[in-house]
Amino acid sequence: MNRPIVFSGAQPTGQLTLGNYLGALRQWTAMQNDHDCIFCVVDLHALTVRQDPALFREKILDLAALFLACGIDPQKSTIFIQSHVPAHAELAWLLSTFTMMGELDRMTQFKDKSRSHAHNINAGLFTYPVLMAADILLYGTHKVPVGEDQKQHLELARDVAVRFNGLHGKVFVVPEPLVTGGGAARIKDLQEPTKKMSKSAEADLAKVMILDEPDAILKKFKKAMTDGLGIIRNNEASQPGVVNLLNIWRAARGASMEEALKHFSHNQYGRLKVETAEAVIALLEPVRRRFQELRADPTELEGILARGAETAMVRAEVMMERVLTALGLPLHGQRFRRARGDS
Ligand code: TYM
Repeated sequence: MNRPIVFSGAQPTGQLTLGNYLGALRQWTAMQNDHDCIFCVVDLHALTVRQDPALFREKILDLAALFLACGIDPQKSTIFIQSHVPAHAELAWLLSTFTMMGELDRMTQFKDKSRSHAHNINAGLFTYPVLMAADILLYGTHKVPVGEDQKQHLELARDVAVRFNGLHGKVFVVPEPLVTGGGAARIKDLQEPTKKMSKSAEADLAKVMILDEPDAILKKFKKAMTDGLGIIRNNEASQPGVVNLLNIWRAARGASMEEALKHFSHNQYGRLKVETAEAVIALLEPVRRRFQELRADPTELEGILARGAETAMVRAEVMMERVLTALGLPLHGQRFRRARGDS
């Protein structure tokens, strides 16, 4: 059991997009055989934006079902809901005392979110990366597969780990980012292809959701923003829309950029759009079917999540005992007996 430990998570804020699938989930499932993987629905993170409680509960379960539908196998990996393991929030507090205001102030996601949620710039939005550092450091994680947009947060997690270790001895593993696959890590908005495809984008046509029906996928690609140049090249600066479609096509087909350019050397945007849509539909159709099965059977899903939380909790407690000890906090008599294997 000396496989490298992998941790990653996604927020249950609306459905996941094709960007999340290609940039994250597909890489996660590929890592399960040779890594010790922990995948988390990070519901506490999503509270930094207002949620309707009844809808939120469903979104959390939807996301867990989607993880499984995308191929996360609970026999191989630990899959759980963040709020089921209280040590995440506890460690976040401890790490916040090792995180500098200036560091958090530099986070581009905070700046973006403060603009898009100007009426609710809560302290959680600011300290969000500390909770993310806690998620990762709690499990002695070696590698964190993420899309490019999360790299800055990961660097902060590394800095916090190094700072803590420098003061208190080698408690945390310093995690490595694993920014997922080239172009696929940067799937762009279909309407504004200079921006990443985000699940929070307002326009429906801007994003392909993993659970979209085939007709909807085709329509979105047909309406994707391109340009008037009439040539299919890999020039992101002048043709971001075309390059995005090429990236999506090749990520869905497992092809290189060279192969994509050869395949589309006819320079017909209409065919590029339709073939990209077809490749995406073929990729997502089995995921949608499995998701529907899982959501139709709440007992199976709840059982998987309960077992995942149990495993995660025991593992998290091992780290919490080390952290509390390193900081000089007196240990609660009963707390760590189970994690130590004492009955
Ligand atoms: P989130 O929920 O926004 O996205 C989940 C994962 O999907 C990646 N991603 C993308 N990749 C490529 N192209 C895109 N357009 C695209 N959009 C999203 C993200 O980079 C991410 O890997 N803060 C994290 C969640 C989190 C986390 C963690 C991740 C909390 N704790 C610990 C890793 C480890 C977030 O908001 O991801």
